[in-house]
Amino acid sequence: MFEIIVQRLSDIDIAELAKFTFETLQSSVFRVENRTTAEIEQSLNERADDENELVVLAREQESREILGKLGIYTGFPRMVFISKWDPIVMQSKKRDAVARTLIKRCKKYTRHIGFNRLEASLSPINENNEKLRSDYQILYEREGFHKATEEASMRVEMSKWIPELQSSKLPEGYQFEEVGDRTDAEVYEVFHETFKLSKDRLHLDMAPSEQQTTFKHWFDRTRPFHATSLFVVKDNKIVGFSIGRANDNIVYLGPFGLLPEHRGNGVAQALLHEGLMRIKADKDIKYAELEVDVDNPSAVKLYTRFGFTQQYRQEYYSWNVPR
Ligand SMILES: CC(C)(COP(=O)(O)OP(=O)(O)OC[C@H]1O[C@@H](n2cnc3c(N)ncnc32)[C@H](O)[C@@H]1OP(=O)(O)O)[C@@H](O)C(=O)NCCC(=O)NCCS
Repeated sequence: MFEIIVQRLSDIDIAELAKFTFETLQSSVFRVENRTTAEIEQSLNERADDENELVVLAREQESREILGKLGIYTGFPRMVFISKWDPIVMQSKKRDAVARTLIKRCKKYTRHIGFNRLEASLSPINENNEKLRSDYQILYEREGFHKATEEASMRVEMSKWIPELQSSKLPEGYQFEEVGDRTDAEVYEVFHETFKLSKDRLHLDMAPSEQQTTFKHWFDRTRPFHATSLFVVKDNKIVGFSIGRANDNIVYLGPFGLLPEHRGNGVAQALLHEGLMRIKADKDIKYAELEVDVDNPSAVKLYTRFGFTQQYRQEYYSWNVPR
């Protein structure tokens, strides 16, 4: 018999959890853990102050031994995120039952706190972990999750990016504008129209309140925008946007998009060109990175033309609280 407990990371014996994580992943036939127990412990300690970090634990009832863990993050209104490649469960006859019970508990918790959506992500996916990916897919689909989207992580090394190879001219009537002065309502309208009318599966998979939450995260003014961030404006109206945030020596691009009536005339290329010029001018930055739906050929083509190459794939599985 085992019991399931939901706890804040700060209330857990982190050394015990780090040891469990390390040992379980060592004996896992699928997943390689390159970090030592001490490194896992350090990373857990760094996150322990964040009250949105929760852990769902399965413990053997008598011995109190940890059998499995599933990390969740609840910092977004109405959405709960499961840590990548979780649950982690000890190899035993009970493995499948423990994994499914942890996910079930997580669904119950999401419903209990009145949130709508629970999301699990598998990243990075590469040719070495196909079996693991498929095992997790089966596990999540059996628990009622569906695949929301599949994305490619692409990047370009700025020292190798040659601006002269791509077209850079905005067509007549369009201008760049620094992000900052427009109201959230105005930006949201453009953002929503852009993704609603495109094939962005993750956006279409979300309820309106979740789309709002995602928008607030992307355009959050309390986090610094990198200088690459720009609007494209025509007749004083925003028609396109490109946002970038720096972390260490990488600028993460996105969201990026144009209202449909402004596509196919070189605006996207000019916007990406100007954005990359601004990243190249920042000597602290080595790479520009982004995530793109693998089923979005116009975006993949655009980024590939600019020298972005795929690093790995990732998949998102979601479960919506039944209403
Ligand atoms: C992704 C997105 C920005 C691409 O915009 P786009 O306008 O289609 O991209 P491009 O500027 O590359 O233009 C597309 C075509 O117009 C052509 N074109 C470019 N400049 C042109 C010009 N001056 N005159 C005529 N055609 C031109 C391009 O050559 C390209 O054609 P090709 O693909 O046959 O070579 C747009 O589809 C979009 O906003 N999608 C929704 C949001 C989204 O998916 N964002 C990406 C998330 S990661």
